[in-house]
Amino acid sequence: MGRVHNEILPGRAHNPNLADYDQAVAHFKWEDAERYFTWYETGKVNMAYETVDRHVREGRGEKTALLYSDPVRDESYTFADLQEKSNRFGNVLRKYGIGKGDRVFLFMPRQPELYFCLLGILKVGAVAGPLFEAFMETAVKDRLEDSGAVALVTTPDLLHRVKREELADLRHIFLVGGDSDPQKGLLDYESESASASPELEPEWLGLEDGLIMHYTSGSTGKPKGVYHVQRAMIQHYYTGKVVLDLHEDDIYWCTADPGWVTGTSYGIFAPWLSGVTNVVRGGRFSPRDWYKTIERNKVTVWYSAPTAFRMLMSAGSKSLEGVNLSSLRHVLSVGEPLNPEVVRWGDKVYSQRIHDTWWMTETGGQLICNYPGMDIKPGSMGRPLPGITAAILDDSGNKLPPYTMGNLAIKTPWPSMMDRIWNNPAKYEEYFQIPGWYISGDSAYMDDEGYFWFQGRIDDVINSSGERIGPFEVESKLIEHPAVAEAGVIGKPDTLRGEVVKAFISLREGYIPSPELKAEIAAFVRSGLSAHAAPKEIEFKMKLPKTRSGKIMRRVLKAWELHLPAGDLSTIED
Ligand code: PRX
Repeated sequence: MGRVHNEILPGRAHNPNLADYDQAVAHFKWEDAERYFTWYETGKVNMAYETVDRHVREGRGEKTALLYSDPVRDESYTFADLQEKSNRFGNVLRKYGIGKGDRVFLFMPRQPELYFCLLGILKVGAVAGPLFEAFMETAVKDRLEDSGAVALVTTPDLLHRVKREELADLRHIFLVGGDSDPQKGLLDYESESASASPELEPEWLGLEDGLIMHYTSGSTGKPKGVYHVQRAMIQHYYTGKVVLDLHEDDIYWCTADPGWVTGTSYGIFAPWLSGVTNVVRGGRFSPRDWYKTIERNKVTVWYSAPTAFRMLMSAGSKSLEGVNLSSLRHVLSVGEPLNPEVVRWGDKVYSQRIHDTWWMTETGGQLICNYPGMDIKPGSMGRPLPGITAAILDDSGNKLPPYTMGNLAIKTPWPSMMDRIWNNPAKYEEYFQIPGWYISGDSAYMDDEGYFWFQGRIDDVINSSGERIGPFEVESKLIEHPAVAEAGVIGKPDTLRGEVVKAFISLREGYIPSPELKAEIAAFVRSGLSAHAAPKEIEFKMKLPKTRSGKIMRRVLKAWELHLPAGDLSTIED
């Protein structure tokens, strides 16, 4: 059992939506949340319509929807602008025969066109698949291949990472920022959009029709395509109200990239369903820059991640000199355990309690949270949202008593629950082995007041700066290197990033361990997968611990690393 925290701090201002948590829980029905939506009466939906067109139709077209800046660009767009731009791109897609159910991927940095194109994709009923700009060749190929994407939006700079000749389904590439060549299937986003009509009738969809796909990692196999459907909007909208506490005049900034589910569920859908002004900052992280972004835009609600807060904390008071952060009224965090120390630091420097929230790519939306108005216990993820039942179960599905560590499980269903794992029904079933429950893969305990406390992952998934890294994907890349005979990858605890990737490697005959070889192997992963998946540390071993069936025992590697007892070794080979 983990450490028990007794400290209770008062929450932020009273939230009328959750005036009394127990009352709200007792009376909550998702059907009531659905009634927030006028469109619900028609039985037809389209996320892009709900996030953009509805505001124009209801007279909010001239309201600022997007405030974008990076070191070079500084732009602002209204809801009417978003409507026009997404309509144009939707018409371009239709011109090339792309529509309902087709997968269209986006591989580009955060910039306004990413948002216009994503909305355009949704307008025609296609399923959007945003990819991190940091992905390299193999990572991009695996995802495009598995999804069967028919079109891709990217930039000339990133195009060389797309192995087109190996992607049979990929018919069209839209280039943002020049270098088009229609003969080669490279279409120019700007000129195509400019000549397309600004009017478009959205594709009207059912709640179970496709919306978005996010690839994420587990401990075995290639990354899995988590497929979400339109009904997720019910949860995005509801959590936007009760967790993000969004009000009409808010200026909201979610720092996440749309390549990560936080950057879509809460970087696009939740704020725009509520018609709130959304800040997007491009370019790299820098403490000064981030604080200036808050000051300049007068950000009121800010959603970020523990690694970012830890980096801001370590940047010290100098980074705060002369910046005015008094616009902030609500600060939230997601993706990794939020250290109590960071919460208390936030109290001082932002005069705001940082509210932790827990959820996953698969859950599509927030499930266990600290919301405005509730008492916060630093270090706890909070309590299940009204409408959500969470429990700690043993491996047979029995509920465990308070303060006992076990599987964090959520009672099914909820609106934003994933619809499937693309191309892999068996993987999907793995989450639902215990009838009526979704098993998260996290271990946690619940205290006697119903607060949940994160304890770790049950599987070998690595969480580095909030990015989920599958050890199998990294190991597969490592053994492609000519020097590597075998590789086992684990997460090594790190004060700033939560965990970093550490690889244990046995070399092939004829290769001699050296610092240069380590650097070369790390660079090989960096250029094949991505910088965040590359091992920060490599240790050469004569032999790796394996089961008799030849599986590398990561659990033993982890025990070595942490100087802990290795546990049951009955299955280890001689
Ligand atoms: O282990 C949990 C951790 O991140 C995992 C989900 O990763 P991903 O799908 O990439 O996240 C999507 C955005 C939420 C979880 O299984 N995690 C997420 N939030 C928290 C967390 N761990 C501790 N505290 C959190 N608040």
